[in-house]
Amino acid sequence: MTRIIDLRGDWAARPTDAMRKAMAEAEVGDDNSQEDPTVIELEERSAELMGKEAGLFVPSGTMGNLVSIMALAPYGSEIIAGDQAHAVIYEVGGYAAIGGHPIRTVPNDRFGMMDPASVRDAIRPSGNIHFPRTGLLLLENTHNLRGGGVMTVEQTRSLANVAHDAGVPVHVDGSRLFNAAAALGIPAKDLVADLDMASFCLSKALAAPVGSMVVGTTEQIARARQARKLLGGGMRQAGVIAAAGIVALEQMIDRIPEDHENARKLAYGLADIPGFTVDLETVQSNLVFADISEGKTGPEIGAALEQNGIRINVFGPTRIRFALHYEITSADVDRVIDEVRQLV
Ligand SMILES: Cc1ncc(COP(=O)(O)O)c(C=O)c1O
Repeated sequence: MTRIIDLRGDWAARPTDAMRKAMAEAEVGDDNSQEDPTVIELEERSAELMGKEAGLFVPSGTMGNLVSIMALAPYGSEIIAGDQAHAVIYEVGGYAAIGGHPIRTVPNDRFGMMDPASVRDAIRPSGNIHFPRTGLLLLENTHNLRGGGVMTVEQTRSLANVAHDAGVPVHVDGSRLFNAAAALGIPAKDLVADLDMASFCLSKALAAPVGSMVVGTTEQIARARQARKLLGGGMRQAGVIAAAGIVALEQMIDRIPEDHENARKLAYGLADIPGFTVDLETVQSNLVFADISEGKTGPEIGAALEQNGIRINVFGPTRIRFALHYEITSADVDRVIDEVRQLV
């Protein structure tokens, strides 16, 4: 069977052999009663890694964002988020449909950053009965739709300060927070030190089959745990999947720079192909977006590559995305560049 090169998402990364072994051997208990030793270990290690008091294991990044929103923002309060935020665009409007929050968006620049002055302007003044109260500032690092753009500690702090000055808590959707940390060469906890809560995915660049972590204070995590239950995310012998998460933390973080190197190689290779544009400055982590200005459309390129065992993410007629992860080698990248060049 031909090997598939799956670049649709870093979520396409399949669990490693070490993960499968750990899953088979995991000690388990009822997680709903907080009796699963493997889940407890994963939660404690995640909290420690992020410099926070407590952690919570949730089934997905989407649920991680929603339980954080529910833990931090009072019901009916307005959330400020980037107009290109994953939570705004791709999470079924859960913040409104379930959380009960209207949203106020601020533009994300081409790196995913929001302008602190615009965030300040978006925070509702108190004392006017017409306005909702601002309940939360939601950040995203790295920024998915902005090409995996990385927000630095200083940028994060400048946004957090604006929110905190107005008494507004801050959560970061850090689905790829370890990618941001690797790109900056700093510990991930530095990127959340100024923030109230954070979530990160085990199932993206870290290759675990299931799960995300939420971290915050003990009290915030207790509220998030109840929100998880409300959403139907209370689990039983979840140690079986948490075991893969522990391996992800132990073995998959330090190798992330390899993916970033492959992403840059792919980006430069694609940018060299006539009709392809890659905003090379925004290729800061493991995602590569390419814009197509002539020749075949995105869906045509996607379909043709699929025939040759290469899967990519088609974002529309003129935009395609490639995500690097541990299963994609430097030789694979050479092959992908070659195939795309031949196609167009
Ligand atoms: C930035 C970001 N946040 C949240 C999510 C949602 O994660 P999940 O698919 O695990 O719900 C994704 C998924 O790709 C993402 O890219």
